[in-house]
Amino acid sequence: MSDIQNLKTEISQQVETANDLQALEAVRVATLGKKGSVSALMKTLGKMAPEERKTQGPLLNALKEDVAALIEKQEISLKKQELDRRLQEETIDITLDPRPTPQGKIHPISQTIDELVSIFGAMGFKIAEGPDIEDDWHNFTALNFPPGHPAREMQDTFFLPEDTRENGEYAKKLLRTHTSSVQIRHMQTHNPPIKTICFGRTYRSDWDMTHTPMFHQMECMYIDEIGKVTMAHLKGCLEDFVRNFFLIDDLPVRFRPSFFPFVEPGAEVDIGYYKNGNAIQLGKAPEGQEQKWMEILGSGMVHPNVLKNCDIDPTKYQGFAFGTGLERLAMLKYGIPDLRTFFESDVRWLGHYGFTPLDRPNSATGY
Ligand code: DAH
Repeated sequence: MSDIQNLKTEISQQVETANDLQALEAVRVATLGKKGSVSALMKTLGKMAPEERKTQGPLLNALKEDVAALIEKQEISLKKQELDRRLQEETIDITLDPRPTPQGKIHPISQTIDELVSIFGAMGFKIAEGPDIEDDWHNFTALNFPPGHPAREMQDTFFLPEDTRENGEYAKKLLRTHTSSVQIRHMQTHNPPIKTICFGRTYRSDWDMTHTPMFHQMECMYIDEIGKVTMAHLKGCLEDFVRNFFLIDDLPVRFRPSFFPFVEPGAEVDIGYYKNGNAIQLGKAPEGQEQKWMEILGSGMVHPNVLKNCDIDPTKYQGFAFGTGLERLAMLKYGIPDLRTFFESDVRWLGHYGFTPLDRPNSATGY
């Protein structure tokens, strides 16, 4: 009887001091396991006299059950302690910033195109398209640059190797020098009224801080019956465009007579700026400061010869056109100093000057 009591006391001490599940399992094996102390005692029952077995049996069974209960209780307690420890250790610091996930940026040229689509879309212009590889006729001749005209030299570009002259005409292919060629393609396939804008890559053999061999232009064209689209409309349209685009309501706009073979009269358009220290500030110069001007586009009333070349009767129709460089607009609006960086595909540059989807322009939020 006291042996059983002693063994139980001993085992319960072992159970209590087992401070992890592994140690507790060792106690279980040493007591209730096949060769354990309690199992060994149980085996002695078989050799006992029936009388003795009657008294010892219940005592030994009780011991076995008590030990099993002690072990189970300790096991539950150890598991709880383990859980509490993990909960303590593994708490999440929700004040920590999430890991940055790579996010794409929208290139300033794409952003500028979207802004212009938004502005001109609101004025009712549709988008026209044309190929980067042009023939001489669409790029020059139809635009009233006769073969050999010196104005062609201002647009020195890349010619493709084949120089097939058809009927003595200039038929060699080239990378278009301007998007004005799209005017021709559009007028050949559409009847007035024509009200289009066109965006695209253009090419000239230039390379410095403000010139790259490939750059982007926007071309705008509006043709309707004589009297419906005049030089006054051209001025109004351009003023609205630049003031909306640069978000400066009183941005000074100046028209300067200029020559382009495909317009008559032709005008270059300047916008006003002034110097703010070394920086260029677009807008009206404050009192006492010099008003400076920079050229941003070429424009004019479409030349009658150009309309004729596209089978549009110049005695019935007239209209305006203008063309501008997109990099130039983006550089001025977003303060980008070097044109060449637009095409270096440096993701750090894009991270700095690029736009997120939430910057997308639309006519509801403005530009
Ligand atoms: N194509 C001209 C250039 O690249 C720009 C231009 C001037 C376009 C006058 C026009 C225009 O539509 O009317 O320099």
